[in-house]
Amino acid sequence: MLAKFLNQYLISAKGCTMKREKIKSILSSSETGKEILVKGWVRTKRGSKNVNFIALNDGSTIHNLQVVADVENFEEGLLRSVTTGAAVSVSGKLQQSQGTGQNLELIAEKIEVFGEADPDKYPIQPKRHTLEFLRENAHLRFRTNTFSAVFRIRHAMAFAIHKYFNEKGFYYLHTPIITASDAEGAGQMFRVSTLDPVTPPLDDKGNIDYSEDFFGKATNLTVSGQLEGELGATALGEIYTFGPTFRAENSNTTRHLAEFWMVEPEMAFYDLADNMDLAEEFLKYLTKYALENCQDDLQFLAKRLQEEEKSKPQDQKAMDLIEKLQFVADNDFIKCTYTEAINILSNSKPFKKKKFQFPVEWGVDLQSEHERYLVEKHFKCPVILIDYPKEIKAFYMKQNEDNKTVGAMDVLFPQIGEIIGGSQREENLDKLVARMKEMDIPAEEMDWYLDTRRYGTVPHSGFGLGFERFVQFVTGMGNIRDVIPFARTPKNAEF
Ligand code: 4AD
Ligand code: MG
Repeated sequence: MLAKFLNQYLISAKGCTMKREKIKSILSSSETGKEILVKGWVRTKRGSKNVNFIALNDGSTIHNLQVVADVENFEEGLLRSVTTGAAVSVSGKLQQSQGTGQNLELIAEKIEVFGEADPDKYPIQPKRHTLEFLRENAHLRFRTNTFSAVFRIRHAMAFAIHKYFNEKGFYYLHTPIITASDAEGAGQMFRVSTLDPVTPPLDDKGNIDYSEDFFGKATNLTVSGQLEGELGATALGEIYTFGPTFRAENSNTTRHLAEFWMVEPEMAFYDLADNMDLAEEFLKYLTKYALENCQDDLQFLAKRLQEEEKSKPQDQKAMDLIEKLQFVADNDFIKCTYTEAINILSNSKPFKKKKFQFPVEWGVDLQSEHERYLVEKHFKCPVILIDYPKEIKAFYMKQNEDNKTVGAMDVLFPQIGEIIGGSQREENLDKLVARMKEMDIPAEEMDWYLDTRRYGTVPHSGFGLGFERFVQFVTGMGNIRDVIPFARTPKNAEF
């Protein structure tokens, strides 16, 4: 305890104790002439025989603090161990920088090296690494500018989600991660079991006897907290869940993870129009929050994207990242029915030229290529598609009077495609049970869910935002594996 306390402080050359300051606050206060203490990791070191310039980063900001070390003030060898990746503490005086490129610099009086990073072995060197290389070294990629920016923004977005819902009077409801139900009815679940996989207990028919399993029945990792969320919403009014969700779908794409985070608000007394309004307001709020609170990181990522875009042909160049965020924050989303969307796609150039890989006809599920055509080429704006064919949507969605479609809504975003999936829920018990029968969903096991419709049922709605897809949108990162700290994808659960 005492050691930890002492570690917070360093005795300066003048003998007074100093508290460590974060680089972000040092750079924003710009107060020169004072003694400061900083701790962080060396990004680069350059210099001459007489003086070394160390770029120090402590994770609090994308910006480094320039440390100037006069070689003659330090014992032989110390500065040699200050290499890229080394963890150091530096105290000294802050002054106006003599050089260009930064306003302030720290004239080092004392340097302590906590941990060296052997330059012959340390993988993160001060050069441009590919995202693929960094994905393979994902345990160290937080130490790069790109990933530290992405994960600071991810944090800011998670915080803004809680702030938004709290300000609107929604309650954060923690829905279970282990569940016996399949919320989406898609059957793409990871089993949770403590049975011996080699010789599991069998019943009379030779099937695995889950009554002997840990929970006394077959259980899985949840694919969505929605069904439990509905229990909360039909009592607390408006709730949201925000937690990890799991899908055992074998999709090796830039938009799918086996473990991802989903934000799911569920609201009593909301119809589909209210649901759409909330989704639009929510996405704009988060986008504005990023613009107002993450400027430094966004500017860095925007510049990075500009570099990447340079190699692309003129007509394929994407909008500037910050312009794109501002555009989404400022413009109304387009609302369009699934049927209208099929008409638009059937009359589109890529359809006529057979450029779409997947079929377009009424009744098919839209693929990312179709969603992106609607958003990027046709409407040039985020789109909310509603009223999908009931056959391609989940059992719980409100059945429309045409008997063909349901009150579903998918929000489609540029570069991403579907970012939100939601619906008004079927509140009529008989209709819901009939639909479950049609879809072979065992009503007996869902009795608890059906009680919401048996007792005090209300019109209600909700949606799920794929958190990583939203972070992809805000950061401009093309691959979903690059916006979650530790990606879980088919054949990959490293770290
Ligand atoms: O459209 P989905 O499957 O909807 C639901 O699960 C509903 N229960 C939500 C609700 O109404 N409460 O998933 C919602 C969102 C998708 O729009 C997508 O953004 C994201 O979750 N998502 C994934 N993100 C990453 N990897 C995956 N494998 C994803 N599957 C869905
Ligand atoms: Mg969906």
